[in-house]
Amino acid sequence: MNTDKSIVEYIAVPEFEARGIKLFIKRDDLIDEVVSGNKWRKLKYNVELCQSRKNEGILTFGGAYSNHLVATASACHKMGMKSIGIVRGDELSPNSNKTLQQCSELGMKLVFVTREEYLARHEKAYHEDLSYTYPNHHIVPEGGANYYGIIGCQEIMSEVREKIDHVFIAQGTSATSCGVLSSLNENQTLHVVPALKGYRSLEEMRNLMVSSGMEAEWVEAQLKRVEAHPEFHFGGYGRYTEGLLKYIQDFYRKHGIKLDPVYTGKVMFALTHELQNTRYSNTNVLFIHTGGIQGAAAIEQKSGFKLYD
Ligand SMILES: Cc1ncc(COP(=O)(O)O)c(C=O)c1O
Repeated sequence: MNTDKSIVEYIAVPEFEARGIKLFIKRDDLIDEVVSGNKWRKLKYNVELCQSRKNEGILTFGGAYSNHLVATASACHKMGMKSIGIVRGDELSPNSNKTLQQCSELGMKLVFVTREEYLARHEKAYHEDLSYTYPNHHIVPEGGANYYGIIGCQEIMSEVREKIDHVFIAQGTSATSCGVLSSLNENQTLHVVPALKGYRSLEEMRNLMVSSGMEAEWVEAQLKRVEAHPEFHFGGYGRYTEGLLKYIQDFYRKHGIKLDPVYTGKVMFALTHELQNTRYSNTNVLFIHTGGIQGAAAIEQKSGFKLYD
């Protein structure tokens, strides 16, 4: 995993350029093939903590297609640590899909639990039970959404030298957007695009930042610089339309950059739509590419649509 690979690229979009809008992309997707995008940002300090405490490995949680599970399996494998994945769905097995197969091949012990049991994934008592069964493992929440995940994501903007006015980013658990928000300067606006239908961006960000130890008043002041765009979920988490798939294909043909249909494709679509508004002119915009391309293969297979042709 190498964050030096995450360059900032200028993307030429003639209709934006005509209005003085410059679009840049922060290529976190280039950090690693598996632990790509925001995955390494969220895992880095969790891994460091594990190493300094001499934990055997990381125990974490995820659904059947979780990018975070594979990334954790891969990061632990590379660091010579163990990994355990608590997976939602006791009907599943390591052979159920490519994601779980990959986790298993990377040495992750997969524990399949019922949907009811999975509901307890944030509860302290459940973590105590898990620590008893799997001792000496550092427990990382679903999606890497903890304090260490947030501080890892605070480093993204420190690598951007260009003067940026607007930043666009995807949301799942909000850890990445909370990290980015808490590192912005006061003239910058953060645009968040949730991948889930009905997601309450500001509320989720507030809860996560405060529960991670940030002072409530300061958090409120930061949240004033957030604009949420909840209408670009395309049906909800993991859902997509043919229009979105075509948009991703077209973007790849024009710019040679792969977007995924679960997160980053929805953000770029939202950004393109939002910047049509004439209130944007002579401004610099940054899209943070949070990766997720390995998950796109399953959607290509299911839809029969070739995204990167
Ligand atoms: C590719 C990609 N982008 C964005 C996100 C959303 O990040 P977060 O859960 O930190 O909001 C995820 C989920 O972790 C993801 O896999």
